[in-house]
Amino acid sequence: MLADRFGRVATDLRVSLTDRCNLRCTYCMPEEGLAWMPKEQQLSDDEVGRLIRIAVEQLGVTEVRFTGGEPLIRRGLVGIIAAAAALNPRPRLSVTTNGIGLERMAGPLLEAGLDRVNVSLDTLLPERFLALTHRDRHADVLKGLAGAARAGLTPVKINTVLMRGVNDDEAPALLQFALDHGYELRFIEQMPLDAQHQWDRHEMVTAEAILASLEPFGLMPDPVSRGTAPAETWLVPGYRDAAGNPARVGVIGSVTRPFCGDCDRTRLTADGQIRNCLFATDESDLRGLLRADAADADIAAAWQTAMMGKRAGHGIDDPLFLQPTRPMSAIGG
Ligand code: GTP
Ligand code: 5AD
Ligand code: SF4
Repeated sequence: MLADRFGRVATDLRVSLTDRCNLRCTYCMPEEGLAWMPKEQQLSDDEVGRLIRIAVEQLGVTEVRFTGGEPLIRRGLVGIIAAAAALNPRPRLSVTTNGIGLERMAGPLLEAGLDRVNVSLDTLLPERFLALTHRDRHADVLKGLAGAARAGLTPVKINTVLMRGVNDDEAPALLQFALDHGYELRFIEQMPLDAQHQWDRHEMVTAEAILASLEPFGLMPDPVSRGTAPAETWLVPGYRDAAGNPARVGVIGSVTRPFCGDCDRTRLTADGQIRNCLFATDESDLRGLLRADAADADIAAAWQTAMMGKRAGHGIDDPLFLQPTRPMSAIGG
């Protein structure tokens, strides 16, 4: 079990498979990209597979999410998912992606055992997409969303980071788009995780402001409990999702409505470090253990020790808050 000092138990493993990405979202990385992780520091497919197996068989992990950077550009992705799907007990498997290439990959991913995907989409306007990501790939993302839904990687969720004066005018249109296509949209408060360290609390669109802009939809409280999910959800009267259930919209208010008290996450970076929190300032090295031929039990014990150091909360409101040195693209969201 991956318990911490505050009584939380991590059952949700987030695996970053690469720090690279084929987009350059302004809130994530500079247009020229970042100093990418050297290949030899990156875990091999077999090393990732072994750590997932230890997490599932020995440490009680029941959910595995693959992130990046952009996980679809990791060559071994389908094989890594197939290996995870063959574990007993079989974990639930999901991917968080920018959607590029998803149209082509959706079928093979489903066949490998993937259950569902979350796709990032911050705008419905192609020109704005180009300005926001520095790449002219808006149409690919829309095709990726449709391909995922067609393949049955459902529910397909959309992640939208709203930024003041950039795309906050699109909140109602983005929700309408999601409702019309049967996707579940979640609006996200921007967090201080950009490589450029330019995050500014005053630029952030808060959960409260997001909900105010959705007033015309007459959102209703969701009777289903939120559990450990980061998104607070509301029902959208008059709409159904692709499975015929009442349509929902979510708000992930990480900054102004933190869910740290219920956090059930543990993270593995592409270079084999355990992070006990998105905002952790230190990490625990499992790659060194793997490459020194450590036994499964020793790796499991090191992982448990790493989780014991998890802090109560992210501390963004603390005057001494320090943004992690690792940017979002190398942590994995
Ligand atoms: P679902 O299981 O589909 O609800 O996934 P999710 O919302 O946990 O994952 P996803 O990868 O789609 O992330 C959505 C947003 O939540 C992103 O902005 C993440 O950075 C953020 N997020 C994920 N995990 C954490 C966390 O532990 N803490 C905080 N503060 N934000 C997180
Ligand atoms: N704050 C909040 N969400 C972010 N994402 C990337 N950077 C940030 C940030 N600074 C989102 C992406 C993607 C998910 C993995 O995290 O848009 O949907
Ligand atoms: Fe790539 Fe995601 Fe960062 Fe955008 S937010 S540049 S899609 S890693």
